[in-house]
Amino acid sequence: MKYDSLAAFPPGFLWGASTSAYQVEGAWDEDGKGPSVIDARESYPAGTSDYTVASDHYHRVTDDVALFAELGLSAYRFSAAWSRIVPDGDGEVNPAGIDFYHRLIDELRAAGIEPVLTMYHFDLPQALQEKGGWSERSTVDAFVRYAGILFEEFGDKVTYWLTINEQNMMVMHGAALGILPPGTDDPAREVYQQNHHMLVAQARAMALAHEVLPAAKIGPAPNISSVYPASPAPEDVVAATTFSAIRNWLYLDVAVHGRYSTTAWAYLVERGWAPRVDHGDMEVLAAGHPDFIAFNYYTTHTVAAPLGDGTDAGDTGDQHIVLGEEGVYRTAPNPYLTKNEFGWEVDPVGFRTTFREIYDRYHLPLMVTENGLGAFDVLEEDGTVHDPYRIEYLSQHVEQMQLALTDGVEVIGFCPWSAIDLVSTHQGVRKRYGFVYVDRDETDLRDLRRVRKDSFGWYKALIETNGEQA
Ligand code: BG6
Repeated sequence: MKYDSLAAFPPGFLWGASTSAYQVEGAWDEDGKGPSVIDARESYPAGTSDYTVASDHYHRVTDDVALFAELGLSAYRFSAAWSRIVPDGDGEVNPAGIDFYHRLIDELRAAGIEPVLTMYHFDLPQALQEKGGWSERSTVDAFVRYAGILFEEFGDKVTYWLTINEQNMMVMHGAALGILPPGTDDPAREVYQQNHHMLVAQARAMALAHEVLPAAKIGPAPNISSVYPASPAPEDVVAATTFSAIRNWLYLDVAVHGRYSTTAWAYLVERGWAPRVDHGDMEVLAAGHPDFIAFNYYTTHTVAAPLGDGTDAGDTGDQHIVLGEEGVYRTAPNPYLTKNEFGWEVDPVGFRTTFREIYDRYHLPLMVTENGLGAFDVLEEDGTVHDPYRIEYLSQHVEQMQLALTDGVEVIGFCPWSAIDLVSTHQGVRKRYGFVYVDRDETDLRDLRRVRKDSFGWYKALIETNGEQA
């Protein structure tokens, strides 16, 4: 479809940017914060940093918010670190942790920036993990209690809430993210049981939000992307729809409709991984309704029918590079797409198809909570950082988002990854995403100075014109 003119971004559209607590805050054990599964990690990929200092945002929050205000953000998506609020996950509340997020939210509000709060972004409190983590129902209760604390403390200042970041990536790529669940005889079986518990926790948190904060808007935040068949061969199409059900709809169908996708459930049963569903779970799932869907988008996937000869599967150790699953699907190259420096396919048009697929299926407002380009940015001797590749990536995605808007999709916000440089999930500091450069490398913290990249000026102009200058 070609349009004569594109729909304008609506007034009040949230032009934001994102971060997550453990990737940006640092201060991993300060002011009463308890360790999370991230802090308890024993090893990191060779040559990459841990998260102890990250971007030192915890100590520089005022300056960072001033930069976000200068950038013109109308929203800032961040996560609260569960173990900063409740150090052992389900015990005493840490007043200093509460104070930190009050300060952050107050400063955002004072700058006219809407806070978008993710409740849990990969960093489960280590004390809960040691008690069995998401394998235990008690972790569901702990999450709902934690949600209640957040609602009570921040409910009068925060309208937009996100439950769990990329639950689907945690389930499918826990190893790549460094958050593998405790070892069991049948890890996949256990992971899908944990997944079910997270879905129950999410549903209860959404129901609680609606009960105690009638004006709040709450939703899930998975990573969603279109899945293409490698060819029109019907077997490839079956593989693509299967993978899409496993990767995308398994999570969103439960979040929105309170029931598992039929295809995904059939897959779980066939593999022997169907979770135990306790009495009352389906009612709980049905009672939790999102007000909007947040999703992260970086790339699409292209898959073919499995060969079933022992070569379908593989693990690249990267949550966005998928190799396949024996007997279910296998990856296929997409000759129409280029790749970024880290091997991720770049597919702006796939952004539009992803919008359409989600909206046609659920008819809920959509907020993009991550999209961006990781790259090896260089701080020049004159103190500038030129990142035309990031501007190109983002402007192409904004253009496709506007096409989706013109298609009739209700898009309420765009929060690219990331507001400021931070530590990537497994490729260290060198893989940068921010509009603001942070002067440190993997081992040398230098002065952690903030430097506006060229993309900062580009995004600022885009926001000032409400998306006209993409
Ligand atoms: C998403 C995560 O998977 O992608 C972020 O929600 C992450 O935490 C982002 O940083 C980019 O991935 P990476 O591996 O390049 O940091």
